[in-house]
Amino acid sequence: MSTIETERLVLRPFRESDAADVLEYRSGPLPHCFASLKLDDPDEVRAEVVKRGADTEYCFAIVLKESGKVIGEIDAEPSTYEPPGLRSKKTMPLPTPDTYSPCWMLNASFHGKGYAYEAAYAFFDYLFTRKGVRRIFAYADDYNVRSQHLCEKLGMRREGLFTEYVSFVRDAEGNPVYENTFQYAILKKEWMNRLNSKT
Ligand SMILES: CC(C)(COP(=O)(O)OP(=O)(O)OC[C@H]1O[C@@H](n2cnc3c(N)ncnc32)[C@H](O)[C@@H]1OP(=O)(O)O)[C@@H](O)C(=O)NCCC(=O)NCCS
Repeated sequence: MSTIETERLVLRPFRESDAADVLEYRSGPLPHCFASLKLDDPDEVRAEVVKRGADTEYCFAIVLKESGKVIGEIDAEPSTYEPPGLRSKKTMPLPTPDTYSPCWMLNASFHGKGYAYEAAYAFFDYLFTRKGVRRIFAYADDYNVRSQHLCEKLGMRREGLFTEYVSFVRDAEGNPVYENTFQYAILKKEWMNRLNSKT
């Protein structure tokens, strides 16, 4: 089981007792890309927290050191993308994933205090230096300037804009609402170069 400590935060696996804190931010307004993560029912939140707590390496509650309050979450999923050529030929075994995509979310009462950056910086460093990750990429929709800004502060390159890429919600007429989505990424060597140039 992993934990990560920063100046003001502890990132640790979820526990069932986190449910009330998680309900606070999962029941609030969420960006379209997190529409499926919205939870209002305390029993569902408890089940979700228990499920997320089973991943003790890549899924963390963001906890304020001074109070023990869970103020958000950060996790990373391995990229399952398989180039089409490989899929049909299966000439070689798929390598262990070394590319991960993070997801971050803070309780709105704790935005604008630098906690997301503090958590994400420590999490990226953990992924690159302790988990052998080679590349981290993130998606941010064009109106989600806070998330884009966070990617840029972390040193991620904006790699492109996917126009009308994906739909998470429907409009009043039931039509899918398509998002324009930026992709950001950073490689381990870029991360290490940044660290070295700061020292
Ligand atoms: C994306 C999200 C995590 C960003 O959170 P955030 O609080 O804006 O991010 P940061 O931690 O970078 O903090 C922002 C500001 O706090 C300020 N701040 C205040 N006190 C600070 C302190 N003690 N130390 C550092 N920064 C501090 C910083 O100046 C920073 O602003 P700047 O980067 O313009 O200088 C948040 O908006 C969120 O949870 N959104 C909803 C979920 C979501 O959209 N997820 C991503 C989907 S793609």
